[in-house]
Amino acid sequence: MYSLDRKVVIITGASEGIGAQIASLARARGCRLFLTARNASKLSAMADPDVGFLAGDLTSAAVRARIIEAAMDRFGRIDILINNAGRGLYYSASTTPLEEARALFELNFFAPFHLAQLALPALRESRGVLVNVTSIAGQISLPWLPVYSATKFALASLSTSQRAELRREGVRVVTVFPGYVNTGFQDNATGPRPPGFVVKGKRFAISARGCAEAILKGIEHGKETIVTPRAGWALLLLNRLFPALVESRMETA
Ligand SMILES: NC(=O)c1ccc[n+]([C@@H]2O[C@H](COP(=O)([O-])OP(=O)(O)OC[C@H]3O[C@@H](n4cnc5c(N)ncnc54)[C@H](OP(=O)(O)O)[C@@H]3O)[C@@H](O)[C@H]2O)c1
Repeated sequence: MYSLDRKVVIITGASEGIGAQIASLARARGCRLFLTARNASKLSAMADPDVGFLAGDLTSAAVRARIIEAAMDRFGRIDILINNAGRGLYYSASTTPLEEARALFELNFFAPFHLAQLALPALRESRGVLVNVTSIAGQISLPWLPVYSATKFALASLSTSQRAELRREGVRVVTVFPGYVNTGFQDNATGPRPPGFVVKGKRFAISARGCAEAILKGIEHGKETIVTPRAGWALLLLNRLFPALVESRMETA
């Protein structure tokens, strides 16, 4: 069992949704936190002597470097980096503006990729944990979220490579695949509103707290892959065995 007590945890996208719930549950387990997102007032409301924060846009490489530096200045170590921040982008593949696709990759892929590089010396030192929050959409391509799905496939692939590279150095890499989670994600996604069938799955959504609890339990229990809700495993298996069936359901599901 990996105890979270007194661990120094960086959480990106901590101002709302899943990230804010991870912060609240991790704090209750005795973690020391370093939080980041763009919304400074929401972050400062969570600050206390064991909770530092830096507000900034993760699409900036300079901001990413400042976050890792500030966390090290504050606590002198990093035990866990949770790459959670992310955003959706609703467009069909044929109409997605190229610049918007690139910007989404900057946030959903290059930010976690770069933050991991920056945090690695500290994670090696602490024999820590790197957590990448991807999505079931990073295993099953979703219509109307083609570039979002592509960013999450890319992050899941990166996470697998990082795991193979870092295990021998004592750094555990955890990949998280949430299904629908009840957060502001759909409203915060940019692009035109999608057809109703695209967001129909939201009726099966789990709570952000439930998702955060599954992530922390997975970290504590030494897991390397977390699918939440667990019913998501059945969907992933179905997709592995009958990809054409799942693809046909995605067209109008
Ligand atoms: N909700 C779902 O159904 C679902 C399903 C699967 C996977 N996920 C993944 O889970 C993660 C968290 O999603 P969520 O549902 O909690 O979404 P959310 O409620 O929209 O929260 C997103 C978080 O990311 C931060 N963020 C967004 N753009 C940012 C930027 N440019 N720079 C820095 N921070 C930024 C936001 O803070 P600020 O606005 O303050 O910057 C916010 O704290 C994402 O990676 C998402 O792809 C979500």
